Order: sequence, then structure tokens, then C-alpha cells
Amino acid sequence: MQYRLLLLLIVWLLGHHGILTSGCFEIEREALLTFKAGIIDTRNRLSSWAGPDCCSWQGVVCDSNTSHVVKLNLQNKYSSDYSLRGEINPSLLVLTQLSRLDLSGNDFGGISIPKFIGSLKSLMHLDLSSSNFSGEMPVQLGNLSNLRYLDLSYSYFICIIPPQFSNLSRLHTLRLEYPFAFSGTCVDNLSWLPHLFFMRVLHLDGVDLSNTTDWLEIVNTLHFLTELSLPGCHLTNIPTSLSYLNFTSLKFLDISDNGPFNTTLPTWLWNLTKLSYLNLGNSGFHGKIPHSLGNLISLNTLYLESNNFEGKIPTSIQNLCNLVSIDLSSVGIGGDIAELVGPSHCPWKNMETLMLGNNRLHGSLFGWLEEMKNLSSLDLGNNSLVGPIPPGIGRHSNLQRLDLSYNSLQGLISEAHFANLSKLDELTLSSNSLIIDVDQNWIPPFQLSYLALDSCQFLHPQFPAWLRWQKQIDFVSLSNTGIRDTLPEWFWNLPYQYLDLSRNQIRGKLPMSLKFTSLDTLILTSNRFEGPIPSLPNTLVTLDLSENSISGPLLSPISNMLQLSYLSLSSNQINGSIPSYICELIYLEVLDLSNNSLSGELPQCWNNSYLLILDLSNNNLAGKIPSSIDSLSSLTSLHLNNNNFYGELPLELQHCNSLVLLDLSNNKFTGEIISGVRAVSVS
Ligand SMILES: *[C@@H]1O[C@H](CO)[C@@H](O)[C@H](O)[C@H]1NC(C)=O
Ligand SMILES: *[C@@H]1O[C@H](CO)[C@@H](O)[C@H](O)[C@H]1NC(C)=O
Ligand SMILES: *[C@@H]1O[C@H](CO)[C@@H](O)[C@H](O)[C@H]1NC(C)=O
Ligand SMILES: *[C@@H]1O[C@H](CO)[C@@H](O)[C@H](O)[C@H]1NC(C)=O
Ligand SMILES: *[C@@H]1O[C@H](CO)[C@@H](O)[C@H](O)[C@H]1NC(C)=O
Ligand SMILES: *[C@@H]1O[C@H](CO)[C@@H](O)[C@H](O)[C@H]1NC(C)=O
Ligand SMILES: *[C@@H]1O[C@H](CO)[C@@H](O)[C@H](O)[C@H]1NC(C)=O
Ligand SMILES: *[C@@H]1O[C@H](CO)[C@@H](O)[C@H](O)[C@H]1NC(C)=O
Ligand SMILES: *[C@@H]1O[C@H](CO)[C@@H](O)[C@H](O)[C@H]1NC(C)=O
Ligand SMILES: *[C@@H]1O[C@H](CO)[C@@H](O)[C@H](O)[C@H]1NC(C)=O
Ligand SMILES: *[C@@H]1O[C@H](CO)[C@@H](O)[C@H](O)[C@H]1NC(C)=O
Ligand SMILES: *[C@@H]1O[C@H](CO)[C@@H](O)[C@H](O)[C@H]1NC(C)=O
Repeated sequence: MQYRLLLLLIVWLLGHHGILTSGCFEIEREALLTFKAGIIDTRNRLSSWAGPDCCSWQGVVCDSNTSHVVKLNLQNKYSSDYSLRGEINPSLLVLTQLSRLDLSGNDFGGISIPKFIGSLKSLMHLDLSSSNFSGEMPVQLGNLSNLRYLDLSYSYFICIIPPQFSNLSRLHTLRLEYPFAFSGTCVDNLSWLPHLFFMRVLHLDGVDLSNTTDWLEIVNTLHFLTELSLPGCHLTNIPTSLSYLNFTSLKFLDISDNGPFNTTLPTWLWNLTKLSYLNLGNSGFHGKIPHSLGNLISLNTLYLESNNFEGKIPTSIQNLCNLVSIDLSSVGIGGDIAELVGPSHCPWKNMETLMLGNNRLHGSLFGWLEEMKNLSSLDLGNNSLVGPIPPGIGRHSNLQRLDLSYNSLQGLISEAHFANLSKLDELTLSSNSLIIDVDQNWIPPFQLSYLALDSCQFLHPQFPAWLRWQKQIDFVSLSNTGIRDTLPEWFWNLPYQYLDLSRNQIRGKLPMSLKFTSLDTLILTSNRFEGPIPSLPNTLVTLDLSENSISGPLLSPISNMLQLSYLSLSSNQINGSIPSYICELIYLEVLDLSNNSLSGELPQCWNNSYLLILDLSNNNLAGKIPSSIDSLSSLTSLHLNNNNFYGELPLELQHCNSLVLLDLSNNKFTGEIISGVRAVSVS
């Protein structure tokens, strides 16, 4: 009712043409003030909305000839603190010339898009993305026949495409990325689309189109389409041939994360010669990549990762001289890498991203890698590459990510390999036969966040001193690298999240207290650490100190680590009893305290319902098995062998339904064994 009264008022006011005061129509000024009154603006973004000339207010744009308000740019580009909230007053209807309304990035509290927006007849550009709208998309939007750009990305609609959309015949850009879902009452096919024959840009990322089996035929009616983005749309089928190709203007095609289609690559793809971006990743394609790939001479980005191709990449890929980004990871291809990247046609000097990991490529890095001076990301991990890493890689000053792990590379890595890599952020060379020969005084040009050198050998057995300069490093994995040293003082002040120094010969005591504030994984297995268990950060999820010479009792240090899911202290010299706080570590999946000198009885309180493996073997534990053992409902392996347990096994043990391995040997148990356990060893 109020809405209707307001409309009448507006019609009346318009009849009187409004009054132009100091560069701005008075009724438009008042409409904006009414709008402002409904808005909660905690950061005072609308503080300039006060003076007489509304055309000078922040975010308001007027036509310089007519002085009518034509644009409202109220997008929030900052943090959510700066969001406008509250309600959107229909007073905006007074702005009859409004052609652009941008409210993106604000927070309208999950309300539906106000229906009146469908009456802003002059709108050409409407952006309501990321502004916390939800509910049903109003059919009235279908009345905005001048609309050329509509962006509703990251909204949470239950019903996204009403039939009225087919009336937006001038629409040429539609972005409806990641809305929530269709509901039963909505159109769940794309039959409305062919009416929008001017459509140029169509983004429906994440929209569930599983009921739309004819999506390709429909899209193929759009002759002017240049961008089609349908990743993660639950598309279930893709025709491999088309009798007629209408959407030949296509430059951008993304249908990744759909299917699995379980077909060969469609033949019509190779006629889309204007394509510059092609993403078919993770969609269940198989068969050979055909020679016709070389038709797509405009390609700049080619992402085909995580499909099941066979054979080699066709050499015609070398015709694609504009390529700067390739992702062919995990596609099962083999062949010599030089045939792929070799300099026969286009030397790919401008390549920025080259991802070929998890394949069966062989050959070496010489003869081509040094040419790709503009590389920023190189992933060749998990192939069969051999030979040394060319030192010229050290001149690739844009390199941010380098992964050559799991190959058979060999030879020395020196400071020259990193000479100009000032942007390097992730370095992964694990599982090769590389020898790292850098000076203890070397100051690297980079600030890494991720370092994995497992099974590389440091030429010098000292702990790598250059790590000291890596102030932002959060992932460090240096397992089996031949370090024979103590850990330097500064080491304990770096911001690790993941730390693996296992299988070295590092000696010395751990500090009394580890101060890392975000450490979630600490693996020091198989070194020569000694002294008591330090006090540890409560962020730990995985703690493995096994195979060292740690001694003393299991005191409270571990009690506050409530997130802990993997705890191994096996093969140390820990004594005393098992404290009852163990029962409070409710997320534990693995508890291995085997091969220590623990004594006393087990705590009574077991309730670790996620525990899969409990290994207490080879200690001096005694007493009866507590009946609370039946709370370990996920337990698959229980090792109590080589202790002094006695008495009858508690009947409750039969509630441990998942148990497959039970070793009770070398104890003093009496009585019968429960049925259902598949591997039992008792003596
Ligand atoms: C304003 O009017 C002039 C003269 O009619 C015209 O050239 C110009 O394009 C107009 N500007 C706008 C923004 O409409
Ligand atoms: C959307 O609004 C609802 C209701 O005010 C609120 O609970 C939710 O956190 C908001 N969501 C976002 C993403 O801002
Ligand atoms: C606006 O949309 C509504 C709902 O679809 C429709 O009933 C009405 O006729 C439309 N108005 C105009 C002017 O097109
Ligand atoms: C399209 O708009 C016309 C009037 O402009 C209306 O009569 C018709 O119902 C609309 N079609 C749909 C599907 O909303
Ligand atoms: C698509 O949806 C429209 C409207 O609900 C319906 O009339 C039409 O039959 C549907 N087409 C297909 C192929 O399902
Ligand atoms: C697909 O169609 C079925 C049957 O009509 C319906 O139950 C289901 O909700 C639809 N799925 C989507 C995502 O629209
Ligand atoms: C080709 O595209 C144009 C423009 O969208 C359309 O009018 C025509 O029907 C389409 N042709 C076919 C065969 O789909
Ligand atoms: C693709 O191009 C080839 C050769 O240019 C042509 O023979 C074929 O008909 C085209 N296919 C389609 C679907 O247009
Ligand atoms: C994929 O297609 C092949 C035949 O082309 C068929 O044998 C296989 O079962 C299909 N796999 C799936 C997961 O549908
Ligand atoms: C190098 O790559 C950057 C982006 O990583 C790009 O902006 C620049 O244009 C490229 N330079 C050359 C010469 O290709
Ligand atoms: C290497 O790639 C193969 C095949 O893609 C995969 O099965 C295996 O898990 C990968 N290994 C590593 C260490 O990533
Ligand atoms: C390193 O880069 C700088 C500028 O980025 C350049 O002047 C210098 O020659 C480069 N050095 C090497 C060894 O490539």
C-alpha cells in the first residue's frame, strides 16, 4: 500500500518536472536523502551527501547537460567494515534517468533483490554482486530491456533464472556466478537464452545445469557470444560433433569441473579459431589430443589438466605462438619434453605458466628452459626428467613457483641457480638426486613461503644458515637431507606452520617451550634429539618425535593440544605412566607410544572416538585393560604386546567393531578372545 502511495507521489512530482536547485534536481536530491536514511553506513561513506548539489556527492554522477542523476556507484571495494547495510528505499524510482546502479560488495543482510529495481527502466548496467542478496530473483528484472550488463555473482538465490529473462533481448553481458541453486519452481533449462541474441558475455559459474542436456545446442545459437563460462555447472553431457557452428566468435571458453563427460575431445572445438582462453580441466575427457589443436592459433591460455588423455601432446602445439599459460598436469601423457617445448616453431619466449606435473614426460631441461625468461610458475613435478638443472634458470627474475620434485634430476644446485629469483615464493625439489651447494653466508634474494627439499643432499652437513633470512616461511620440509648439526637459536623464531626435519642427524635438546604460534605439523622423526618433551603450541595437529632420545615423563606439555590428531613418541626413552589427559585429546586418530619405558596402569577414561591406531607395545605397562576401551569405536589396530598386562580381556572390547589387528602377545592375559577380530596374536 505504502509502495503504491509512493509511486503516486512520484508520478505527481514528475508531472511538476521537479525543481533544479544549485546544479541538482531537488526531487532527486530528496530521493537520494530518503535512500540514505534507510542505509546503515557505519564508516560514513555517504558523509558528503549533505549539501544542496547532489551531483557533487560521492558516488553520484549526473548528466552534464540535463543534470539528472545517471549513475550511482556505491560499490564497496574495501573490507566488510565499509559495507553499506540497511534497506534500499524505492525512492530511487525518482531517478528516471538512472542508467547505472552498482551496489556490489555491500551487505544487504540476505534480503531478496527489491522488486522495484525492475522498474528502473533506463538501467543499462546493474551490478548487485557480492552484496548478500538471496531468496528468489525477482521476475521484474526481466523488464529491464535496456540492460546490457547484469552481474549477480556470489549471491545466494534459490531461483535464478525466471522466464522473464527472455525479454531482456538487448542484454549482452550476464554474470550469475555461484548463486546457490535452482528451486523446483524455476526454469531449469536454458530455453530463454536464444532470445538474447545479442549476448556476448555469459558467466553462469557454479549454477547447477544438470537438467539442461541441450546446453550446447542452445549456446550455439548465440552468434555474437565471445565469452562462455560454465565451470562447475554439473553439465553431464557434451556432443562431440555439431553439424553447424554458430558461436564462432568465441574467445573465452571455460567448461572445467563438469562431467565426467567420458568422451574424446569434441571435434567442433578445433573450428573455434578465435579462442584465446580454453579451459577443459577436470571434466573426464579421454583419448588422444588431436593434431587439430594446432588450429587454435590465437590460444593464449590452455588448461586441460586432470583428464585421462593417452599418447603424446601433438607437436602441432608448437604452432601456438601466443601461448603464455599451459596447464597439462595429471593428464597421463608421455614423450620427450623437448618435443613439446622445443624451439622448432615458437620458442615460447613469453611463457608465464607451464604446468606439466604428474605425467610421464622424459628428457632434460636443457635447450629450452633457459629461453623461457618470463616464467612465473613452473611445475614439472612427478615425471621422469633427468640431468642437471640449468643454472640459467637463475635469471628468470619473474619466477614465483618452481616444482621439479619426483624426477631423476641430478647434479649440483648452486647460488647461481637462484641469482635473480627475487620473487621466488615456492621451491620444491624433493625426491631427486640433487646436491645443494650454497655457502653458509649466502643471503638469498628471495623470501620463500614454501620450501621442500626432501632427499636432496646438502653438500655441507651444517643446518642451512640461509633459512634464517626467510622471515615469511610457513612450510619447511627437509627430510633426509644429510644435516648433521644442532639447530641454531634463530631457527625457533621463524613462523612455521609445517616443519619436517625427519631422517637427519640433528642433535641437541629441544627448547623448553616452542613459541610457534601457528604450527600445525612438527615431524622430527629419526634424529638425535634428547631431553624432555618441550611445551608445545596448542595449534598442533600432527606431532611426531619418534626415534630420538627424548626422555622423562609425559607431563602436561601435551595436555593443551586439543586439535592433535597424530601423536607419535615411539622409540624414545619416555618413562612414567600414561596420564589421563590423553583421554581429552578427542580428535586423536593415531597414538603411538611404543618402544619406551612407560609403566603403571592405563587411564580409565578412554573416550577418543576417532582413534584408529593405538600402539603401546614394548613398554612396562601393567594392570587390567579398562572397560572404557569400548569407547574407541573407530579403532582398527590395537598393539599392547610386550607389556605386563594381566587379567581377562574386558567384554567391552567386542564393541570395537572396526578392529582388524589386535596384538596382545607377551602379556599375562587369561580367558577368551572376542570373535570378529581378524588378526590376533596372543601368547
Ligand atoms: C551534451 O550536449 C552536447 C551538445 O548537444 C553534446 O555534444 C554532448 O554529447 C552532450 N553530452 C552528454 C553527456 O550527453
Ligand atoms: C548476510 O546477511 C545475514 C543476515 O544479516 C548474515 O547473517 C550473514 O552473515 C550475511 N552474509 C554475508 C556473506 O555477509
Ligand atoms: C514487468 O514485469 C511484470 C512481471 O513479469 C509484468 O507483469 C509486467 O507486465 C512488466 N511490465 C512491463 C512494463 O513490461
Ligand atoms: C515479455 O514482455 C511482454 C511485454 O513487454 C509481456 O507481455 C510478456 O509476458 C513478457 N514475457 C515474459 C516471458 O515475461
Ligand atoms: C524448458 O523450460 C521451459 C519453461 O519451463 C519449458 O516450457 C520447456 O519445455 C523446457 N524445455 C526443455 C527442453 O526441457
Ligand atoms: C532436475 O529435475 C528433477 C526432476 O524434474 C528435479 O527434481 C530437480 O530438482 C532438478 N534439478 C535441478 C538442479 O534443477
Ligand atoms: C546463429 O546466431 C544468430 C544470432 O544469434 C541466430 O539468430 C541464428 O538463429 C543462429 N543460427 C542457428 C542455426 O542457430
Ligand atoms: C570445421 O572446419 C572444417 C574445415 O574448415 C569444416 O570442414 C567443418 O565443417 C567445420 N565444422 C563445423 C562444425 O563447422
Ligand atoms: C566411459 O566410456 C567407456 C566407453 O567409451 C565405458 O567403457 C566406461 O564404462 C565409461 N566410464 C564411465 C565411468 O562411465
Ligand atoms: C611477462 O609476464 C608478465 C606477467 O607475469 C607480463 O605482464 C609481461 O607482459 C610479460 N612480459 C613479456 C615480455 O612477455
Ligand atoms: C605421480 O603421478 C601419478 C600419476 O598421475 C600419481 O598416481 C602419483 O600419486 C603421483 N605421485 C606423486 C608423488 O605425486
Ligand atoms: C638480474 O636482474 C637485474 C634487473 O632485474 C638485471 O639488471 C641483472 O642483469 C640480472 N642479473 C642476471 C645475472 O641475470
